[in-house]
This record gives sequence, C-alpha cells and structure tokens, in this order.
Amino acid sequence: MVSFAVLGCGRISDVHLKAIEKSQNAKLVAVCDILEEKAKEKGLAYGVPYYVDLEEMLKKQKPDVVVIGTPSGMHGEHTIMCANYGANILCEKPIEVTKEKIDNMIAVCKEKKVLLGGIFQRRMYSAAIEAKKAVSEGKIGDLILCDGYFKYHRSQKYYNSDDWRGTWALDGGGALMNQCIHGIDILLMVCGDIESVTARCSTLARDIEVEDTAVALVKYKNGAVGVIEGTTALSDGFDTVFQIHGKQGNISFGDGCFYSWDVKGQTAPEILDSLGGKNCGWQNSYNGHTFLVDDMAHCVMEGKAPYIPGEEARKAVDVILAIYKSSKYNKEIKVYD
Ligand SMILES: NC(=O)c1ccc[n+]([C@@H]2O[C@H](COP(=O)([O-])OP(=O)(O)OC[C@H]3O[C@@H](n4cnc5c(N)ncnc54)[C@H](O)[C@@H]3O)[C@@H](O)[C@H]2O)c1
Repeated sequence: MVSFAVLGCGRISDVHLKAIEKSQNAKLVAVCDILEEKAKEKGLAYGVPYYVDLEEMLKKQKPDVVVIGTPSGMHGEHTIMCANYGANILCEKPIEVTKEKIDNMIAVCKEKKVLLGGIFQRRMYSAAIEAKKAVSEGKIGDLILCDGYFKYHRSQKYYNSDDWRGTWALDGGGALMNQCIHGIDILLMVCGDIESVTARCSTLARDIEVEDTAVALVKYKNGAVGVIEGTTALSDGFDTVFQIHGKQGNISFGDGCFYSWDVKGQTAPEILDSLGGKNCGWQNSYNGHTFLVDDMAHCVMEGKAPYIPGEEARKAVDVILAIYKSSKYNKEIKVYD
C-alpha cells in the first residue's frame, strides 16, 4: 500500500478522502489544514492523525504522496515543501496560477526526484475519452472548428464565502481559471495544443476583481480554429458543450452524453459507465479522482510517470494566461513564444 496524506480539508477534500478510501492501492495516513477545526473534523471522520502544519505532518508521517487541495495560488509553495521532504504530489487544478510558479514546482520536483501529477478528473469521462479516440484515429478527418462552451453559475455568495475566491493572487483568475479550466483541458486533450488566442474578458455580473465572463477565438496548432466561451455569471442549468467539427464528421458532447455523433459508419458509443447514464445528469461518483489516486499509487510502486504529469496539467493554465494577456493588451497572443 502507498501512503497518502491530504493537504487542505476544504470543500474538495471529501472527494480526495473518498478516492483514497476507494483505491485498492492507497492508504490514508494523515490530513492537514491550517484551520484546526477542519483538520480535526476530517481526521476524526477518517480515523487518521490530523495536523495544522504541513512540515510537521511531512516530518512525522513521511507520506509517499500528498494530495494538494489548498487554494490554487498556494499549490506551488506546498508542492515544493512536499518535494523537499521526498513526498510525491498529486495536485488539484489549476496546478498553479503563474508560469513562473509552475516552472519552479516542475523544476524542484525533477531535482528532488519526486512525481508531480495534476488532477483533471473530467478527462476520465467516457464522452471525452470516446471523442478523443475518434479524433485521434482520424474518424472525423482533419479538424476545422473546435468549440467549447462553459456556462456556469456561481453566486456572489460563493465568491464571498472564502477570501481567496475571485482573487488574482490565490484563484489566479475567475470563471476560466477556476471552473472552465476543466473544459479547456478537455479541448486540449481532444483537439490538440492551442497556438494563439484573441480574447475579451469581462466582469459583468459579480463583484470580483477577476473575470466572470470570457470569450476567446482560438487557433490550434493543427490549423483548426474555434471559440471558447466561459462564464460563472449565468443562472444555473446549462451543460458544458463541446462541438468538434472535422472534414468528415462532427461530434458534440457534454459532461455526460453525446449530443451528436456524426461519424461515418458508427453509432454513438455507449457511455453508461461515465456519469450514470445518457441523460447528462451530474452525478459525482468520485471515479475520476479515484482513477488518478490509484494511478499515482501505481506510479510510486512502479516508478512510472503520472497519468497527467505536471507538464501536461499546466497546458490549460498556459492557455488561460494567454487569454488574460490577450484581453489586457487587446491583441492576439501566442500561448508559447
Ligand atoms: N477537481 C475539481 O473539480 C475541484 C473542485 C473544487 C476545488 N478544486 C480545487 O481544489 C483547491 C481547493 O478548493 P476548495 O474549494 O476545496 O477550497 P476551500 O477553501 O474549501 O479549501 C481549501 C482549504 O485549504 C486550507 N488551507 C489554506 N492554507 C493552508 C495551509 N497553508 N496549510 C494547510 N491548509 C491550508 C483552508 O483552510 C481550506 O480548508 C483549489 O485549487 C480548487 O481549484 C478542484
């Protein structure tokens, strides 16, 4: 069994804790949160020691892996602390919020010879997997248009609920960096790398310093173009929508279903094991997180690279940072100069 500790006992932590519980190869040894009541609650609930100081937990428990679920702009410092104590890291999205901090955490993990894996659990959704397979096998031909529409609701109360939400320093941005990053990651996974973006980011409905709404025109490295629309300013009830159009076919899907599967000679694949059916219902079954926890346990045992290495987890952040820059300077920005 590979020993796991959870850092950050906030909203996402139960998903981490349950994923560790569900994995056949992982064993929870400790939890940590800077707020004692939160650490204590999870420690008692899961029957493990709790800590309020990361360094103390690392020294005493020597976990093989730390799952990081602290505010996004703290992931870098916490990763480096873990790496310095020889712990491997499974880090929540976004892996960090600036290029410099991501460069640094990747470099330190390499130097300390520890693994750095990112979390994007929606990569494990069957619709995304089947879409990627069809595109990479050339089933819809060369790509023409690859669009992602990520329309969410987050209330002002949500943004007011913690000091770090909706801030540049710790959330790293707004709708794109916190919520839409999952969809942007899937666009990259299915359609390939993005070369440049031309964008407009706005704060239209929430009292926050970052964007609640953004639109970007994107150019993929393979020549396809597309749009990304992301917002947290709408009322609830809109699904994530991907529309991928190639020279020989079209695929449209959401988090839990296909809207259309226009692939010559094929009917839409069954995706019943994804989110509980074809009805697009959101049912968080912890499957994605469990897969990534289990994968990390195998990586530690077998010395292989994580399913989503740090270098891969950073790609969506790099695209989002380019979108912010494009909007700020009102011009097309290359994701990688
Ligand atoms: N994969 C997903 O779908 C998903 C969903 C939600 C959140 N997240 C990510 O998880 C992270 C946390 O989000 P959340 O909603 O759980 O936030 P949260 O504010 O509810 O929890 C963060 C916790 O970290 C603790 N913390 C802060 N500084 C600390 C420190 N120095 N040492 C130890 N603990 C510290 C806080 O006290 C808090 O309990 C974010 O990066 C977020 O983007 C991912």
